Amino acid sequence: MNTVTLPDGPSLPRFVLGGMALVAPLWTMRRLRDRYGSAFMINVPVFGEAVVISDPAEVKQLFTTSPEVADNLDVNLGMILGPNSFFAISGDAHRRQRKLLVPPFHGRRLRAYEAIVEEEAVREMATWPQGREFATLGPMMRITLNAILRAVFGADGAEAAALRDLLPAMVKLGSRLVALPIPRTDLGRWSPWGRMHGYRREYDAIIDRLMAAARQGPGLDERDDVLALMLRSRYDEGSGMSRGEIGDQLLTLLTAGHETTATTLAWAVERLRRHPAVLRRLADEVDAGGSQLREAAILEVQRIRPVIDGTARQVHSPSMQLGRWTLPEGQVVLVSIYLIHHDEALFPNPRSFDPDRFVGRRPDTHQWIPFGGGARRCIGAAFAHMEMNVVLRTLLRDFTLEPTSEHGERWHSRGVAYCPAKGGRAVVHRRTREQQLAGHIHAAAVRNTDDQES
Ligand code: HEM
Repeated sequence: MNTVTLPDGPSLPRFVLGGMALVAPLWTMRRLRDRYGSAFMINVPVFGEAVVISDPAEVKQLFTTSPEVADNLDVNLGMILGPNSFFAISGDAHRRQRKLLVPPFHGRRLRAYEAIVEEEAVREMATWPQGREFATLGPMMRITLNAILRAVFGADGAEAAALRDLLPAMVKLGSRLVALPIPRTDLGRWSPWGRMHGYRREYDAIIDRLMAAARQGPGLDERDDVLALMLRSRYDEGSGMSRGEIGDQLLTLLTAGHETTATTLAWAVERLRRHPAVLRRLADEVDAGGSQLREAAILEVQRIRPVIDGTARQVHSPSMQLGRWTLPEGQVVLVSIYLIHHDEALFPNPRSFDPDRFVGRRPDTHQWIPFGGGARRCIGAAFAHMEMNVVLRTLLRDFTLEPTSEHGERWHSRGVAYCPAKGGRAVVHRRTREQQLAGHIHAAAVRNTDDQES
């Protein structure tokens, strides 16, 4: 048997460290990294005794290790999203589901969803006030919710309206329950868990209606939404996804994809307003029909403001050699996305917002990790990138975003994701047709001069 070797860590009681991690999580992480280096132990509620890592080689090893050695941590998410959710399954069951559900989120399919995202962005932005400050988080949440309802659930009309009413409340309650212990006894239907079960019954009834309509209606074979693809898909041995699997996975995709994308977009607004030179270049680029700087800016927003600050694995084999450490079975390992993204050795001057660091350069998949990594890397990463790109393109094309000299907004935890504390406040002015046209002409002139010079 291998001797267990774990990193050092503070000997504070669980509730003290837990309190610090709750009140000032990022500050606590930074202090611990400064004191103990790139790996340390913490003892906090929910995770218990966990090893926190941020050394790129150790992170890469953990992400690429076989799921039989280290895999999903069994947290409450499975209880909330259902037993068939990605977050509740591991091993073969997880591999089977990934095989079926990765294709809908790539390539040709994504292009089909672009038009939906743009329509939803235009519709929401038509309601934006001009010249008056407002928080963009709520609008971004509506755009990403509606985009997922149409692209993923294939929902329109009455079912979309019912889901639009139900899901935000359900997801909000779910985000809070993730961090609470699961009660051993039934606390009644007015308790938080009781309310969650009530929401779930309503949700299941809507999904049943959506599935029945999809099966009975014409054109299931031509539909591009993820629900239709789920209904048509087959496992290797020929069987289809069960009703429970479809319901749990749709809810998982929505929960994982809606708030994360919206909070990142709110951070994009917050960061860009404080970097007028970048904002100006982005506006020029959009008029010229380009996207390189915008795509780099999205990568940089996700580096400097990762809305999920860490991801977890648990050792499933009798022991695991992880870099310098020998971990026992059951050991929880937390990858600190926040710490690795702020590592000076990997990202020089890490606290400065600098999209140019990603212009013409793809980030390293084990150092730039807002979507996690390995067999559990976010299944919706390409979808989220496309969505953020289309929403920002629409914003920059149709509006002038006013810069500000105010201090940056603080990080605020919404339970699962971090958002700007004031909701990513913006002041916008709608661009007239003439301004857009002048932008195109200016951009074309700049392009021509460039061509002559080269
Ligand atoms: C900016 C937006 C997003 C961020 C920052 C984000 C982040 C993450 C992270 C950190 C993980 C955990 C990965 C790991 O443990 O290695 C994850 C998993 C996941 N995400 Fe996302 N996500 C985003 C958008 C989306 C979207 C749009 C969808 C789907 C529509 C989605 C669906 C999922 C699913 C299903 C998983 C679980 C994958 C598995 O366990 O196999 N996410 N995401």
